[in-house]
Amino acid sequence: MLRRLLRLFQRSHIVVPNAAELEPGTARTIKLGEVHEGGTELLICRMPDGRVHAMDSECPHGHGGRLMPGPLVDGRYVECPMHNFHFDPKSGRVERGVCPSLRRFAIREQDGEFHISI
Ligand code: FES
Repeated sequence: MLRRLLRLFQRSHIVVPNAAELEPGTARTIKLGEVHEGGTELLICRMPDGRVHAMDSECPHGHGGRLMPGPLVDGRYVECPMHNFHFDPKSGRVERGVCPSLRRFAIREQDGEFHISI
């Protein structure tokens, strides 16, 4: 049921308030329903230069890991704690490890909100 609802939101926008609370060099998670019930979770990263990136928090390594919110590794990578792979939020590519790239989403910041196209 939830998966069907999420399909309705595909290619639509979600709005996330309090964008200014995301500090440079950090990441936060956004839950869209419960992951164990067919929902999903996004990760929003603010790079040290202030640019933001959005991605699926599910690790593409495929062993059940989820990318970590909090400080970026070396100020520029997100990390999966399962096998400590590092990913570049700007490109989605794995920088430490071997696996496919992250699934990324278009994001813009406007009037204190994040607008994400999913
Ligand atoms: S499951 Fe994420 S690094 Fe292995």
